[in-house]
Parts: sequence; C-alpha cells; structure tokens
Amino acid sequence: MIRDITALGDLLQVEELEKTVWALSDQDVMPLTLIIASKEAGNIWLGAFDGDKLVGFAFGFLGRENGRTMIHSHMLAVRESYQDLDLGYKLKLTQRDRALAMGIRQMTWTFDPLQSKNAHLNFAKLGVVSRTYKTDFYGPETSSLLHRNSTDRLWVEWRLTSKHVQQRLQGKDGRAEVLEVLSRLQPLVQFDGSGEPARTELGAALGRQRICIEIPTDINSVQRKDPELAREWRQATRWAFTEALQAGFFVAEFCRSVRGNQGPGAYVLQKGTVEEFIPEF
Ligand SMILES: CC(C)(COP(=O)(O)OP(=O)(O)OC[C@H]1O[C@@H](n2cnc3c(N)ncnc32)[C@H](O)[C@@H]1OP(=O)(O)O)[C@@H](O)C(=O)NCCC(=O)NCCS
Repeated sequence: MIRDITALGDLLQVEELEKTVWALSDQDVMPLTLIIASKEAGNIWLGAFDGDKLVGFAFGFLGRENGRTMIHSHMLAVRESYQDLDLGYKLKLTQRDRALAMGIRQMTWTFDPLQSKNAHLNFAKLGVVSRTYKTDFYGPETSSLLHRNSTDRLWVEWRLTSKHVQQRLQGKDGRAEVLEVLSRLQPLVQFDGSGEPARTELGAALGRQRICIEIPTDINSVQRKDPELAREWRQATRWAFTEALQAGFFVAEFCRSVRGNQGPGAYVLQKGTVEEFIPEF
C-alpha cells in the first residue's frame, strides 16, 4: 500500500531503508531533523508499506528550474526483495498525483545512466526525457555501494501533463517503434562481442539526426566481477553523452534488451529540442 509518510516511527524506518538500499554510512544518510522539517514544510514523502513495514519510499522537494516551480525527486528506493513488483512505478505515479494537486506540472530527478533498470523505469514506463549529463554529480564517490564507479547522472525531466507521459502511463511503451528506429542506427558506443564498450567515429555520428548509446543489462554485476570493465563503460558512456548533448541532441528513449533477453539496452538520442518533442507542455 502506498501512502504519505507522517508518523515519526515511519520516518525512522526511512533511515534504515536508506542504509539498506544504498549501503550508506551514518554520515551520508539524511538527518532525521531534516526529514521532519522537509515534511512539515510541505515536501512530498511517500512510503510503500507491507503492513507496518516500510518497503519503499520516495522523497521529492520543491525546486525552481527555468523560472518554474517543480518537484525534484531526490530519492526513490525499494527494498531488494520487493523490487520488480511495480512499487517503484506506483511510488512515482503517486508522487505525480501529489505534485499535480499542488499545481505543479514538472518533476526532475537524476539517475545513473549505466543502470538499465532505472533507465527502463524512467524512459519506457514513465516517459522522461533528458538534456543534461552531470559528471560526478555527488563527487567522485560516496559511502554508497552504488557510487563506487563515480557518480555521473542524467538529469531527467518528467513533464507530468504531456501527451507523451500520458501515453506511457496508459501502457504504450513505444517499444516496437523504438526497436525499429534502433535497427537503423549505428551506436556511438556499442556492446561488442566480449562485453566491452566499442566507440564509433564521432564526427560522422554527430552529423546524423538520431544516434544511440548502448549499456550493459546489469552494470552492478559487471562492477562486482570486473570493476575495471565497469570503469571503461563509465568512460565510454560519459564521452558519448557529453559529446552528443553538446552537439544538440537530447535523450528521448531507452529500450532494454535490444538483442535478445541478455542483450544490451540502448538510449536513443535525437537532434532538436525537448520542447519540439513534447510541444503541448
Ligand atoms: C530503481 C528502483 C527504485 C526501482 O524499483 P522497482 O519497484 O524495482 O521498480 P518497478 O518494479 O516499478 O520497475 C522495474 C522495471 O525494470 C525492469 N527491470 C528489472 N531489471 C532490469 C534490467 N536489468 N534492465 C532493464 N529493466 C529491468 C522490471 O522488469 C520492471 O519493468 P516492467 O514492469 O516493464 O517489467 C529500485 O530498483 C531501487 O531501489 N534501486 C536502488 C536505488 C536506486 O537506484 N534508486 C533510484 C535512483 S535515486
């Protein structure tokens, strides 16, 4: 069940869940005093509960971007044994409802572009877009196990009332169309036969209208087995996103498993503006 987090006991469970999901040290978890103050000041704290047990949460705070008030969703987490059951998705939908009730139509957040699951949730299920790549967003590393291979992030925009988002929320994930587009694209970074990232020639790629960037299906297992290979993926994708976004592309889609079940996923980047892609916002 998804509901607002209000009681002190529930807020205390947030700290424990943060430590479990990100393996954060005491120094890096959010102080309880800040959690309480941010909640009292009207920011959005949502929990997914199994009985009284907190099994997931989402925290978003008010921010400003390009002169508009928006919600920046700082944290979304689901306990490992409850993952892949749509809880992350449902927490985002409830966050969207709360934002709309506040008269807010735009949400932002960041995620690690090497995380295929997050990319699928964000682009395919929710319909975000991105025009900004942040190198070492939280610094070179933190105490989190998920922050060992630098902390690069895509800054995503979720245009809550747009047709694009509404279609995604109706279950139209656009996979067939995206796969068709991908079949005609030369990846800027490609998953080669041995699992390494192969780069293509930049000049020719940036002259095209669309390009794609591939990522492994499970970067966390690459990180565990071969941290050097995970670093190569970071370097290659950092290069590709940075060059493409600077050259006037934005990230429009992500499609998982583009070459069979264990195949890599691929981002589709398109030349033009987010405003043209989502004109009705
Ligand atoms: C990201 C997170 C919140 C998602 O929560 P969740 O409840 O598992 O998400 P959902 O079940 O709603 O959606 C997951 C989707 O990814 C899919 N998925 C699972 N593994 C995948 C992979 N390796 N590649 C692509 N998609 C994958 C699932 O099948 C599901 O999609 P579907 O419903 O279309 O089949 C959760 O994994 C988590 O807590 N991760 C660690 C912390 C984190 O990264 N937080 C977000 C950034 S702050």
